[in-house]
Amino acid sequence: MNAPDAFDAIVLGAGAAGMMCAATAGARGLRVLLIDHAPEPGRKILISGGGRCNFTNLHTAPDRYLSANAHFAKSALRRYTPHDFLALVERYGIAWHEKTLGQLFCDGSARQIVAMLSEECTAASVTMLLGSPVSAIDHADGLYRVTVDGRTWSAPSMVLATGGPSIPKLGATGFAYDVARQFGLSVVQPRPALVPLTLGAEDALFQSLSGVSAQVEVSCNKTSFREAALFTHRGLSGPAMLQISSYWQHRTAIAVNFLPDVEAEWLLNQKRLQPRTTLRRALTSALPVRLAEVLTDRMAEEARSLGAELGNVSDKSLRAAQAHLTAWTFTPNGTEGFAKAEVTAGGVATRDLSSQTMMATRVPGLYVIGEAVDVTGWLGGYNFQWAWASGWAAGQAL
Ligand code: FDA
Repeated sequence: MNAPDAFDAIVLGAGAAGMMCAATAGARGLRVLLIDHAPEPGRKILISGGGRCNFTNLHTAPDRYLSANAHFAKSALRRYTPHDFLALVERYGIAWHEKTLGQLFCDGSARQIVAMLSEECTAASVTMLLGSPVSAIDHADGLYRVTVDGRTWSAPSMVLATGGPSIPKLGATGFAYDVARQFGLSVVQPRPALVPLTLGAEDALFQSLSGVSAQVEVSCNKTSFREAALFTHRGLSGPAMLQISSYWQHRTAIAVNFLPDVEAEWLLNQKRLQPRTTLRRALTSALPVRLAEVLTDRMAEEARSLGAELGNVSDKSLRAAQAHLTAWTFTPNGTEGFAKAEVTAGGVATRDLSSQTMMATRVPGLYVIGEAVDVTGWLGGYNFQWAWASGWAAGQAL
């Protein structure tokens, strides 16, 4: 007879990865305790995708994830695919749609995904302990002991699924890193990712564009994204900028192509077709008016001829202007930090974990899954897919 406080596995964190892991292990007949300090499970799921949860991406592939070990995510992603999660969603009759770029969203509400995972946990007899912080964790005699509200629970396996510190006001913490370090695992420096970039005084001109968006191609460190960019009162946001922020390093520049859809000699062709028009007016056919104005004003500060009619601007100047507009560099002075970051890059080092099971290679029974691990996906459902896949891998292995 087991002591009432003894389980087969304790999962810390009832978010996306933790619920998937607990339900998977419970369905295999394991007695699982799922603990979260928040009063309800899956808070980040609830606010995700603008309340509709972009729950996976059909184009999931390991090269859409950042990690010190580019191969680490392969095994888990291969064994639990977007179609596996979609089959679960359909089994629960949750209506969904593909928005763009393989991104799948609920037609209704993210609440349906949380309800589905909660029901999976209930069906698998998972015990949930919500609303109280963990006060102590230790390991002795092959058992992990977790103390909550003065009561200690034990199990031979413990899963860290407490995510990363992005959006602390939702209860996000760096708890997983502290516990990982307690057990001798390394942590790759965590940093905000999928986060708006901020601009300094030299780009103050762009503040007047707050609210303006445009389709751009943005590049940094040999990685490019072609999506919408949004100017904010603090700098740059929108999908293109959130994506590139994960690759950006402090004091480096990003290059923005404001004319990703025009031909190579577009401005020269405009000069031939409409010699009486100005650069500013020509640009308004390809860009929002306010953006065209600010870009032209900035370029005319350096080359005054660009304020003239195109017929009076030399071909050389127009070629230079187009080169400038297709590789406009910004050097952000920072990001909006963990308070606004959709995810945390870095985390528990993959070199200390098995890519098959997510178990720490030198600490039997300790598993790390989800965002807590140094695996960070692109924007667009990739991070949830990693949470499901890594949670499933650990849930099968426990
Ligand atoms: P997650 O953060 O989901 O769960 C961790 C759990 O641990 C939480 O329930 C937390 O309360 C708990 N916890 C933390 N510290 C604890 C402690 N000390 N003790 C006990 N419990 C603790 N991704 C995507 O693919 N599609 C999308 O649409 C979005 N949208 C989105 C919007 C916004 C605003 C944000 C902030 C993030 C997204 N994401 C996303 C990212 C996605 O939410 C994220 O990658 C996953 O939730 C990570 O899942 P985890 O289970 O690893 O952590």
